[in-house]
Amino acid sequence: MNVLVLGNGGREHALALALHRDPSVVALHCAPGNPGTASMATNHAVDASDGAAVVALARELGVNLVVVGPEAPLVAGVADAVREAGIACFGPSAEAAQIEGSKQFAKQVMVAADVPTAASVYCTSVTEVAAAIDEFGPPYVVKQDGLAAGKGVIVTSDRAAALAHAEGALPAIVEEYLDGPEVSLFAVTDGITALPLQPAQDFKRALDGDEGPNTGGMGAYTPLPWAPEGLVEAIMADVVQPTVDEMRRRGTPFTGLLYAGLALTSRGLRVVEFNCRFGDPETQAVLSLLESPLGEVLDAAATGRLSEVGELVWAPGSAVIVVLAANGYPGVPDQGGRIAGPRLFASDDNVHLVHAGTALDGDDLVASGGRVLGVVARAADLDAARADAYAAVDALDAPSLFCRRDIAARAASGLIETPTL
Ligand code: AMP
Ligand code: GLY
Repeated sequence: MNVLVLGNGGREHALALALHRDPSVVALHCAPGNPGTASMATNHAVDASDGAAVVALARELGVNLVVVGPEAPLVAGVADAVREAGIACFGPSAEAAQIEGSKQFAKQVMVAADVPTAASVYCTSVTEVAAAIDEFGPPYVVKQDGLAAGKGVIVTSDRAAALAHAEGALPAIVEEYLDGPEVSLFAVTDGITALPLQPAQDFKRALDGDEGPNTGGMGAYTPLPWAPEGLVEAIMADVVQPTVDEMRRRGTPFTGLLYAGLALTSRGLRVVEFNCRFGDPETQAVLSLLESPLGEVLDAAATGRLSEVGELVWAPGSAVIVVLAANGYPGVPDQGGRIAGPRLFASDDNVHLVHAGTALDGDDLVASGGRVLGVVARAADLDAARADAYAAVDALDAPSLFCRRDIAARAASGLIETPTL
């Protein structure tokens, strides 16, 4: 199989790494890719959101499968363009990608499918937001309706801050606050059958102790040692399958990766958000433990044959990713900072670097994005994986980058209480 991966982040580097391990993938390309993907794939300077350019490249390369990484090309209809050209594509249509592209659309689907989620109000003015937050009470949750790279949400008990955020986020959704630990569950689907990956937990806030603003994600780990028995089965039965069925019923079948972000609240599980693609950075940890051939799985989903694929097979143990972001992120990040260190281009079995926002300046690797690098470690348990990940972080010489020091710490110490389902 000849595969083209679209995107240039850490998720795409992780997808390329896992595809490269699949013996059925004989040629691997990325557009545009990054310095990390260049070590196992051929990078092409093509804009992932330009459907015509992607189709031309896919034809020229003779690819059998296009895997779309980020949400922006999906919402822009790139998967539609690829399929119209007769090439298999892993990723939903523009219409189905609205499950991420519009929080209001996602709420409508969940209501129709009877999927549990936070109560919410759609607001087009700050006055409406003020009325809605007063109705729900603190902590206040205000979300921009459209795409915002993980940064469109505020959760705060400061009423003035909630209203100030709303000013720049209209139209906005105001939601009831959901307590309890969060879970990210990814499901591969061909529009009918859905197959879960291993669950993960993501760290959305910029700073230790879940302080600071929301980001795209500062770290993750998998699996969840505290997860209640039957968690994945319950999410598949109560959330993923009903959503996949409802999307098909509407005439906009969802094929690709359905990402369910959930809170395990004291009143049961609730959807916090859906995404229409693999999560970043959870994917980097999750795929590092995948033993099934990823190319075959994604191709089966893209061609409506997912029911022929059995349950996915996972390596034992735990995986952790610690994200290094440029100082200033999620605001305006410092760019161009030099990155040096012993592990930059080497990778061993258990610890590897994932490039997210890097560039080459001559022979130097430099920061060129918000989230710049991820360190992924796999080990027998979470404690050991954390220790290995942070040892590798400490071996890097990258003064313009910062990371959280508490990724997976509470889970490794057994401090997350197992919620009841
Ligand atoms: P979203 O972009 O909708 O995933 O929101 C980003 C993050 O904000 C989530 O991962 C949660 O940590 C937090 N969040 C969103 N909605 C809620 C809610 N209703 N209650 C509590 N926290 C929330
Ligand atoms: N890690 C959160 C996301 O990918 O949206």
